[in-house]
Amino acid sequence: MSLAKDTKILIIGAKGMLGQDLALIFNDYNLTLWDKDEIDITDEQQVDSKIKELNPKIIINCAAYTDVDGAETNQAIAMQINAEAVGFLAKVAKEIKATILLISTDYIFDGTRKQGYTEDFAEFKPLNVYGESKLKGEELLKQYTDNYYIIRTAWLYGKNGNNFVETMLKLGHEKDQLKVVNDQYGKPTFTIDLAQQIRYILDNKLPFGIYHITNETTESEGISWYEFAQEIFKQAEIEIDLQACSSDEFPRPAKRPPYSSLINTKLPQLRKWENALEDYLANS
Ligand SMILES: NC(=O)c1ccc[n+]([C@@H]2O[C@H](COP(=O)([O-])OP(=O)(O)OC[C@H]3O[C@@H](n4cnc5c(N)ncnc54)[C@H](OP(=O)(O)O)[C@@H]3O)[C@@H](O)[C@H]2O)c1
Repeated sequence: MSLAKDTKILIIGAKGMLGQDLALIFNDYNLTLWDKDEIDITDEQQVDSKIKELNPKIIINCAAYTDVDGAETNQAIAMQINAEAVGFLAKVAKEIKATILLISTDYIFDGTRKQGYTEDFAEFKPLNVYGESKLKGEELLKQYTDNYYIIRTAWLYGKNGNNFVETMLKLGHEKDQLKVVNDQYGKPTFTIDLAQQIRYILDNKLPFGIYHITNETTESEGISWYEFAQEIFKQAEIEIDLQACSSDEFPRPAKRPPYSSLINTKLPQLRKWENALEDYLANS
């Protein structure tokens, strides 16, 4: 039996890049959209009282501290939003018997497995504070409730947020030459495709647990940021002297995993990343 259309769904982080596309994809459900103005998820009392009053059947949490480099210096805030607050949400979800869905990341892994990571791979070694905080969030969720979905995804881009595709398009118009790193591999993911796959999980009431959702690449290791940039410029018909470089040439506060490809063994595959990119560029 599929999910009833009058099911009350709460999306938190609804003004974020993914949150806005989820709101679009779930717009025929009984939706409540909250962001920072409506709820501060780091305030346990607020989380408890506001969510109990609303009494949703499903809580989708997209709210997060997503500045990967910023997290290195704002460790406490990243931990509060990405970890502690998830515990608050999970506790209240359990009390009101709601299902809770958390968006997590490939950055919980150390990125040494070229062949990628399946859902049940459990050696977590985040290389940065953001990854650590998201992993702790997963752990707290599991600790407080059984009725959860953990959705791990990667390299998101969508119409409503700063993302790599937009950065490349901007730089492509400003510069004649550009260097992009060619030693970090992953799977780019269009937020609309991710939102549709989340809807598939909820609509079909799939078993609780961990799911990996990304657009697909031909090689299981994924693609590099350099290859991603190459395709963006090709599809957008921007002429630029694009050069591959190593991460050492671009030191950043947070270390990134070299290979963090998420392998999906549970869901129908999403379309190829090139096709998703084409769709994004045509409609943004
Ligand atoms: N972006 C990626 O490449 C990527 C990759 C893998 C996984 N993810 C995960 O996917 C999810 C969605 O990412 P996104 O890029 O769509 O995020 P985003 O655009 O940064 O949106 C997050 C939203 O949460 C809000 N928020 C922050 N702190 C809050 C709080 N204390 N209470 C309530 N709301 C709060 C933010 O408000 P402000 O903007 O005002 O702070 C923002 O509207 C996150 O869980 C992220 O970790 C993202």
